[in-house]
Order: sequence, then C-alpha cells, then structure tokens
Amino acid sequence: MLTPVLRALSRLRLPTKTSQEAIIWAYRLILGREATLAEIEAHSQYTDLATLRRTFFESKEFRFLQRHVCGPSITGMEPALQIEDKVDDETLRALLEAVQMCWEQFGKEEPHWSVLTAEQFKQKNLNNHNLTQFYQSGQKDAELFLNLARRNGYLTKSLDEKTVLEYGCGVGRVTHALAQRFKQVYAYDISAPHLESARQFVTSLGLRNTEFVQIKHPLDVMHFPKVDALYTLIVLQHNPPPIIRVILSGLLDALVPGGLAFFQLQTYSEGYSFIARDYLRSVQRRREPQIEMHVLPQASVFEIVSAHNCQVLEVLDDPYTGYRAGTLSNTFLVRKRS
Ligand SMILES: C[S@@+](CC[C@H](N)C(=O)[O-])C[C@H]1O[C@@H](n2cnc3c(N)ncnc32)[C@H](O)[C@@H]1O
Repeated sequence: MLTPVLRALSRLRLPTKTSQEAIIWAYRLILGREATLAEIEAHSQYTDLATLRRTFFESKEFRFLQRHVCGPSITGMEPALQIEDKVDDETLRALLEAVQMCWEQFGKEEPHWSVLTAEQFKQKNLNNHNLTQFYQSGQKDAELFLNLARRNGYLTKSLDEKTVLEYGCGVGRVTHALAQRFKQVYAYDISAPHLESARQFVTSLGLRNTEFVQIKHPLDVMHFPKVDALYTLIVLQHNPPPIIRVILSGLLDALVPGGLAFFQLQTYSEGYSFIARDYLRSVQRRREPQIEMHVLPQASVFEIVSAHNCQVLEVLDDPYTGYRAGTLSNTFLVRKRS
C-alpha cells in the first residue's frame, strides 16, 4: 500500500518510485526524520545512489545532528607507526626522483584529475562546467586559509601588500585565488606539465603577479624567497616522510617573523610504515605511476615547527583524506615568532 507521501509523489513529475523511496529512506536512515515533499523533489535530480548517499552524509544537517554516529576517525588506541623520516642526501635524491617521475607522468596524462581525483576532472570530461567547478573549489580553499588566519587575528588587512608561497601548486587551482588576493605569489611544483598548465590558467585571468618555479632537487627547498605566508594543500601527503620533513623545514625557514603557514598532511594511517630502502626497491618494480599516500606523525610536525621558532595556532581534523577510519589528516596553522 502507498504511504500518503508516496501517493502525493506519484502526482509529481519525479524519477522512478525506487528513487523516491531511496530519498525517503535516506531521510529516515541518515537524518533520522521524515522528508517533506519539497525536500524529496529537491533531491530528485540524483541519478545514482552513491551521489544521493554522499549528499546526505555531507549535508550540514547530518554533520550537525548525526555526525557523532560516525565517531572520530582514530580513537587513540591504534599502535605506533614505524616511520623512517631522516635519510642521507643520496637517498633523499632518489626519493624525490621517484616523486617527480610519478607527477610528471600524471601531469602529461591527467593533470586535473591528478589534483582532484573525480571522474569529471579527467581530460575526456573536462568541459567548461567541470573546469569552472574545479577552479571554484580553489577559491573556497583559499578562503578557508584566510578565514583561519583572520579568526586568529592575522592577515586581516593589506593582503595586497603581502607575499605568499604556494608549494605544489598543481594546475593553479588555488594559485589563481591567492594571486587575486596577495601582492605576489611564488608557486612551486615538481612537475613541469602541471606548472605550465598553472601558468597558462593564471595568466589567462590577466594576473601577472605569480612566479612559477620547478623543484628539481631536494635542496631547492632551502632557497625559497622570504615570504609573509605559506600555503600547501594535498601535496605533502603524497611524499615519503623524509621528503615531507625536508620540505616543511624549508618552508618554515622561508617565513618572515610574524609570518603565517597553512599546511596539510596525513598524520596517522593504521598499518602504514616507511623504510626508505624497502620503499625504493618497491618503486623500481612498478610499471604505472601511483598516487601515494604517506604519513608524518604529529609529534614530528610539532618538533619541526618548534625547531623553526614557530607557534601552532590551530590544528584541524580535515576532510582531505576522506575521514576514513584509521587515518587522520590535519591542517596546521602556524605562526613564526617575531
Ligand atoms: C594533488 S596535487 C595538488 C595541487 C594543489 N596543491 C591543489 O590543491 O590544487 C599535488 C601537486 O603537488 C605536486 N608535488 C608533489 N610532490 C611534490 C614535491 N615534492 N615538490 C613539489 N611539488 C610536488 C604535484 O606535482 C602536484 O602538482
């Protein structure tokens, strides 16, 4: 027998009964309440259950009222990780070469998808609508950085007199948003094709305040210009821990006194371990490039931050690795002491 809501729905021009039911049950199971007709209609555009499910779990209502049912992604009862994060210069060079080979290949084949791995950002699907969405997401990410800064009382005014360094700029997704706000942007990346794509996009907007530089050697990170702000998102996590350590040190070295750094990385992943020699052997056996996920624990991050005379202002539990159980990604906001 049809419920009153389903009866009313049958009079509306909506998709199949199954998907109407799916929407009704999404409200019941995920949000814990009945849907109104208007809400069912508003969700009727989804063509598959995965999109419907994601929309509900990402909704403000779920995060506000029901997020606790997911619990934290790590509990604190997980074991220590075995991570070698200090290696000699030769090993460091070999590690960085492996990173570069992988990203240059992605840069040639799937530059946008390698930045945000969703089907709509594959070259074959990259129409104007998808490209706009891609670059708009960079505006939001830049705003998040500035909001964190502002709520801590920094970068509140005269942004157009400040310099910012973006590490791992990719195809300019966030770079253009930084260039629209700051006086000068220094954009670094290890992959020449990504950098070229970023340069083309940023200059196509008429922005002339960005310098694009390729990283070719681990020690390049010791020669950054001094800057007021640092930004690196979804980059460090793709590098072996010894490389993350060196990059983070180089970046924090580049901050002027009073300068602000925003950086994100994965700080825990259950089952993860890193031994440089074993890792390099496994990389040699690979046929295809892989988007790798690495970890530098919070304790190491705090050690590096304090060794560079910086103070942690905020640590966010962020969504960049998907809140998967057993993994933790953090966004750090750090300030160099004056
Ligand atoms: C997932 S993409 C993110 C791009 C950009 N941060 C964004 O959020 O749109 C990672 C980028 O970091 C670059 N990258 C990875 N490891 C790097 C390293 N060690 N040094 C410089 N760039 C690196 C890659 O070439 C790629 O362009």
